[in-house]
Amino acid sequence: MKGIESVRAYQEDIIESIPSTIIVLDGGLKILYANRNYYVKSGKKERDVIGERLDRVFSQMLIEKTRIDEKIRQVFETSVPFNGGQLRYPGGLFFFYKIHPLKEADMSIRKVVLLMEDITELTRLEEELRDSYVKLENAYAELKEEDEAKSDFISTASHELRTPLTVINSYLEMFEEGLLGELSGNQDEKIAIIRTQTDHMIKLVEDMLDTLRLESRKFKIQRVSLKLDEIARSAVDEVSRLADLKEHTMSLKINGDLPRIWGDRQRIKQVFGNLLTNAIKYTPNAGKINVELKNENGHLLVSIADTGIGIKEEEQEKIFEKFYTVSGKSLTSESERMGHGLTIARGNVEAHARSIWDKSSLNRGSTFYFTLPKGE
Ligand SMILES: Nc1ncnc2c1ncn2[C@@H]1O[C@H](COP(=O)(O)OP(=O)(O)OP(=O)(O)O)[C@@H](O)[C@H]1O
Ligand SMILES: [Mg+2]
Repeated sequence: MKGIESVRAYQEDIIESIPSTIIVLDGGLKILYANRNYYVKSGKKERDVIGERLDRVFSQMLIEKTRIDEKIRQVFETSVPFNGGQLRYPGGLFFFYKIHPLKEADMSIRKVVLLMEDITELTRLEEELRDSYVKLENAYAELKEEDEAKSDFISTASHELRTPLTVINSYLEMFEEGLLGELSGNQDEKIAIIRTQTDHMIKLVEDMLDTLRLESRKFKIQRVSLKLDEIARSAVDEVSRLADLKEHTMSLKINGDLPRIWGDRQRIKQVFGNLLTNAIKYTPNAGKINVELKNENGHLLVSIADTGIGIKEEEQEKIFEKFYTVSGKSLTSESERMGHGLTIARGNVEAHARSIWDKSSLNRGSTFYFTLPKGE
């Protein structure tokens, strides 16, 4: 009891000092009471407020715009509180208001409380946020348009390059097979250089087309039942010359008898190829590259670990993005870093409804993992 009494003692102080406006009105819309906050906000004097009708205290324009007088009358008539509207004062002040009926002992309503909360700052922040959002949306639309234009350009250019490359490649093959006559040692050497460069160009064009296909969802895989260890062996075999050039030691560990998988041979080989060439490229000479295949619950797990330059934690997810390459010092020239390999690898693995991820620490090597579904 004592507690309640003491609360009553400072009830008035509370009402007077809270940072909200409280106004009590009677049925004739006369103001019976206003707390200190109202006088501070409005700059009015008590003698010009108490006993006056609302429409003589609030500005005419404000009343006409908000119809607050009608809302108060409605609360008197229905006894239902009015739960929210906004008052906008000239000069940019914003208030949120509520009207609450005050029930007398006999349950009649002879007074209502008008509660007003200054939301100027909140509204300003909200407007700022809305502005930023619109700006962001516009910037995104612009970027998207630019990105689409770029993709269109790359797609057209890649398709255009394919035909001349096929012609160059077939004549090159004729030279290599001796169909155009015996070549001197010097010519052989030059043809070998043209071969390396042509292969590089063909790979680039195919990678660009694959990356764009992935985006446009034109990417299709054809699944059959496969032996993953066979694919892994041939993929390791194919890059072994490249690994030898850098004196890397490569190993392939197959844990136990692996069940067959259900997937697209070419695409899975491409995943191995892209991850293995990365491991070779981004590892200083005489490094170690270990490939491991494991049978796990529901899938087969492949890991490809290297002892290379590693990847900073903040880049470990980004490297899978389209055209993303890690900037700064690297073991390779910029022209060898196109940022296609991992995007395609991820697209391939995800087309098999599986995932690919990496774990790495800078200067301590990287391990890339991917899973593939078991098949019959
Ligand atoms: N094993 C790795 N060790 C360290 N960094 C790596 C490794 N694999 C990838 N990276 C980093 O991730 C980036 C993206 O790799 P990604 O294979 O997508 O493209 P790329 O190797 O630059 O070019 P390409 O299109 O020829 O594959 C690389 O540029 C490299 O910085
Ligand atoms: Mg790569």
